[in-house]
Amino acid sequence: MERDLAALVQILERMGHDARVLDSTGSTNDDARRWAIEGARTGSVVVADAQTAGRGRHGRSWSSPKGESLAMSIVLRTDVSAARLPPMAIVAGLAVREAIAARVKQSVQVKWPNDVVIGKKKIAGVLVEGAIFGSRVDHVIVGIGVNVKTTHFPDEIASTATSLALEGAQALDRGKLAADVLRDFDVRLMKWVADPSSLGATLAPHDALLDARVRLDDGRRGVASGIEDDGRLRVRLDDGSIARAIAGEVVRE
Ligand code: BTN
Repeated sequence: MERDLAALVQILERMGHDARVLDSTGSTNDDARRWAIEGARTGSVVVADAQTAGRGRHGRSWSSPKGESLAMSIVLRTDVSAARLPPMAIVAGLAVREAIAARVKQSVQVKWPNDVVIGKKKIAGVLVEGAIFGSRVDHVIVGIGVNVKTTHFPDEIASTATSLALEGAQALDRGKLAADVLRDFDVRLMKWVADPSSLGATLAPHDALLDARVRLDDGRRGVASGIEDDGRLRVRLDDGSIARAIAGEVVRE
């Protein structure tokens, strides 16, 4: 096992032991970050019934209307290298996928880098933010948003979003969903720590982009063919060479 991951092993067995459950907040990721700075133990969790300024990746907003979604942020106190953050988001995405898949009949997939989708519609997203000092990470905030009870989305995302309710799930208890995600994330993180190179094979059966045509932002085109250990997307380019892309460099064609 790599030294920078060893610290994680000791800390994850008690994920969710300290929890703050809020009626309404701006962003649970911000709350978790403040709590981490105050000294929150690793595995501490912030959950909110509503967020007024929920954040997604690339500065996008994330809608969390009261009572409708799971908005949860987990503090991981660790000194992993900053390069470990992208695969950690995939590990979290797989845990969320598993909990959702247990509640619906449809196939649920992880869409690199960190969406959970049913068909072409997004049901959950993961936002991993690290407090980085030099190349090291002091703590990581893993933010998870799942659309649970929403039946009407804002116009901008109405055609691209779905929820557990819209997919016919009977079990819409957000506490149980959170507990399932935490339990599974804990186990998956342990496995990933022990064997970081196993992540690609774990993702493969659930990989929404596998074998999909994609375009890189420099115009090159190819077929997505899994992930590298560092979380980059492997793309078999049309000229036969392999490109490795980071988030934001790739669009599905
Ligand atoms: C994305 O798909 O772009 C990531 C969405 C992450 C949303 C969650 S909800 C809980 C946590 N708090 C936030 O402000 N964002 C994350």
